[in-house]
Amino acid sequence: MNPADKIRRHYRPRIVPGRANHDILDWAAAETQETRFDVLTHSVDLQDKSLLDVGCGLGDLCTFLLRKQIHVDYCGADIVEEMLQRAAELHPSRTFACVDVFSGPSEEVLVALGRKSDQPFDVVFCSGTLNLNLGNNMEFLPRSLRAMYELASETLVVNFLANKGYCSDPTYFNYSVHIVHKLARNLFPEATIDIRDDYLHNDFTLAIRREK
Ligand SMILES: C[S@@+](CC[C@H](N)C(=O)[O-])C[C@H]1O[C@@H](n2cnc3c(N)ncnc32)[C@H](O)[C@@H]1O
Repeated sequence: MNPADKIRRHYRPRIVPGRANHDILDWAAAETQETRFDVLTHSVDLQDKSLLDVGCGLGDLCTFLLRKQIHVDYCGADIVEEMLQRAAELHPSRTFACVDVFSGPSEEVLVALGRKSDQPFDVVFCSGTLNLNLGNNMEFLPRSLRAMYELASETLVVNFLANKGYCSDPTYFNYSVHIVHKLARNLFPEATIDIRDDYLHNDFTLAIRREK
């Protein structure tokens, strides 16, 4: 089974009426989902920027930004249609697109997201999108980071489940902070790389900023 099908097969059965958003998305709690949004939004000035939310799920980040009165030109991308339908119902004025952002050249992905091929987003966020254990996570990571970096003219911010030395469920992939940091430095030697790992016991956030 290809990775996209594995991802759909994991999330689709979770979409049932009455189930809380965080549970559909397989976050442990709404509070920890929101803690991650807090860290993402504190890592960059978003006011009046264009933002791509890679793996937007039910559009909860969009809801969070509205509640915090952070004004952005928001676009969400996901590969599970049913998630996008719900997100679009909640936020009809925003763009939600069924696009696998890792699937092709950035020019084609931008067009699929409704932009011009030479018009990247100011900021790209990716929260929880790389959580599942697909059997090739560390091989796939350089490709996915490069693909998202190409879509951002200023900053890419990605969070990861962290391997901080406790026993874990094989459904998910726990990343090493040290290895991801080193990988990002090697992939983007011209960028400023920041890591935050002080907010949850099982998570960390990587920010990659282009030099101005
Ligand atoms: C843990 S959920 C997080 C959703 C949302 N970012 C949040 O925090 O509320 C992960 C989401 O990433 C999506 N996803 C996984 N791989 C993807 C890909 N290659 N392209 C787009 N979306 C993807 C899944 O369908 C799912 O909706």
